[in-house]
Amino acid sequence: EKDGHDWFMRKEIHEQPRAVADSLLGRRAPNGELQLDEVRLSDEDLRDIDKVIIVACGTSFYAGMVAKYAIEHWCRIPVEVELASEFRYRDPILTPYTLVVAISQSGETADTLQAIRHARAQRSWVLAICNTNGSTIPRESDAVLYTHAGPEIGVASTKGFLTQLVACYLLALYLAQVKGTRYGEEIADVLDQLEAIPGHLERVLEQREHVYELARRHVGARSVLFLGRHAGYPVALEGALKLKELAYLHAEGFAAGELKHGPIALVEDGMPVLCVVPPRGRDQLHDKMISGIQEVRARGAHTICLAEEGDESITAYADELVRLPRVPVLLQPLVAVVPLQLFACELATVMGHDVDQPRNLAKSVTVE
Ligand code: M6R
Repeated sequence: EKDGHDWFMRKEIHEQPRAVADSLLGRRAPNGELQLDEVRLSDEDLRDIDKVIIVACGTSFYAGMVAKYAIEHWCRIPVEVELASEFRYRDPILTPYTLVVAISQSGETADTLQAIRHARAQRSWVLAICNTNGSTIPRESDAVLYTHAGPEIGVASTKGFLTQLVACYLLALYLAQVKGTRYGEEIADVLDQLEAIPGHLERVLEQREHVYELARRHVGARSVLFLGRHAGYPVALEGALKLKELAYLHAEGFAAGELKHGPIALVEDGMPVLCVVPPRGRDQLHDKMISGIQEVRARGAHTICLAEEGDESITAYADELVRLPRVPVLLQPLVAVVPLQLFACELATVMGHDVDQPRNLAKSVTVE
């Protein structure tokens, strides 16, 4: 049942190319437009949406953070991302023109369920992004976009996260299409780039032994930091969460630019710091990230850098290097998170922990 893997988690990590491909099936209409038939909101209702609020917990929340970058960039609508457990206690401003997007793998998370009940009571639209057919959250939503991960057994979300990202990108593109903020060609280009992701994921997975070896080298670490910028920032948070859940290690993710405002004081000699390096582009993201990496390295950090193929500027500052396929920055989370999943899975395995059933955790959290 684990396809020869020791853990469901490891099996599920390897299923990701297939899960992403399945999530993209049947999305192009004969006229080339993006179709999301199951989103039952009318184009008119979607056109009137003037704000999106994403509510979710844990890994699903990090998918929501990535979605904010995509929706704001492609659709020019303001997006807030809120931890479901905090949402209704802050008296959020909800109107009939607000679209609340609830992201939940299980569809049973109590915090997220309460958040959507609150949103619906204020007459906002609720759309669920969910992996579990017929679960409570989609049943109580106005619309649902199902992810196609298949059952996720490991408590740590992996393929659930990747398919949530795909659903978020599709939703963002669909909103852009309906609102007319992006041309058909631009949308088709992004769909092409998404369709190339399963092949890219296979190449990332081919480096698994290299990543496992890196993980084994850091078994004695007391604390591990993760750095990212832009869409790489939620990836850093997700990498840290995986390590906390599975290896019971202190791990923290930071926006690299925020380091100098405090967290850099944590850096000690030999501390592993995993860095998600943005692709080289016209903006200064990449270069700013490199200076952040230089700063931690100057203070003794052992840097493990995830950087795109062909990026040679990184080699001088990376104690270890994992190569990522070249993809646009918005889509980079899809490929960059995979080495972090492999890293956490292997580290926890070597430490003798139960990767599929970490202590104190449940697959779906049905209490608030
Ligand atoms: O089923 P959900 O997506 O609503 O679950 C949300 C979180 O409980 C979940 O992502 C949790 O953080 C995972 N254990 C992360 O690996």
